Amino acid sequence: MQILGVDIGGSGIKGCLVDTTTGELIGERHRIQTPQPATPAAVAHTLKALVEHFEWKGPIGCGFPATIQHGIAKSAANIDSSWVETDVEHLFREITGLPCFVLNDADAAGIAEMRFGEGKARQGVIILVTVGTGIGTAVFVNGQLLPNTELGHLMLEGMIAERYCSDAARKREDLSWSKWGKRFNQYLARLEFLFSPDLFILGGGSAAKMDKFIDKIATRAPLVPAASLNQAGIIGAALHAAARQSPARKRK
Ligand code: BGC
Repeated sequence: MQILGVDIGGSGIKGCLVDTTTGELIGERHRIQTPQPATPAAVAHTLKALVEHFEWKGPIGCGFPATIQHGIAKSAANIDSSWVETDVEHLFREITGLPCFVLNDADAAGIAEMRFGEGKARQGVIILVTVGTGIGTAVFVNGQLLPNTELGHLMLEGMIAERYCSDAARKREDLSWSKWGKRFNQYLARLEFLFSPDLFILGGGSAAKMDKFIDKIATRAPLVPAASLNQAGIIGAALHAAARQSPARKRK
């Protein structure tokens, strides 16, 4: 099945067609800068432009950088506050005229990695951490997702963890990879203390740059980059849409 997977981020809105039986991207990815301010109307129009770019007429899976409960945004850390209580699924369906299925962006990346990547066929507790404008997390126990964990919002050094060690924090404070790596290690150590995971998977842009800071990571559980690196969010969003379209196929 082919589905348009979309990853809505604080700086870019990225999409690509995905083959949901193999988890592979079909053709080229397309990225449009996130409009500022990233209001519901502005983001919905950007999504429409993305759909038109692909001349797409089928289902859409959409990773969104907020808590999403039953299609509705319940938080807005790095997006406009007017998203809170917006029915994101309804909004996106209306503007595109297509079936849209929305979930938290980190959960999307985690779903991709559990199906086709580093978490494939693995039991135990696995935490995927995506590092970008914010920090997102997806927690799995024996392959089962606990949706909408917001562990990027734990307090660390007196501030919200994502303010302390997201990629945006690294850029904002002009931190060396070594300094940032130490902060990120502190963050992972906190997660490890709280959840004792068997594996950490790193998603987002930093996954491709792990060699720059891996020497600072001292957790018991190994940290590995997402197999599909920065594309995990797009792939997982498409998998989520496929599962919701035809629930019986979900576990195949
Ligand atoms: C949001 C999460 C999101 C993460 C990554 C955080 O600021 O609260 O919902 O998953 O950023 O985009």
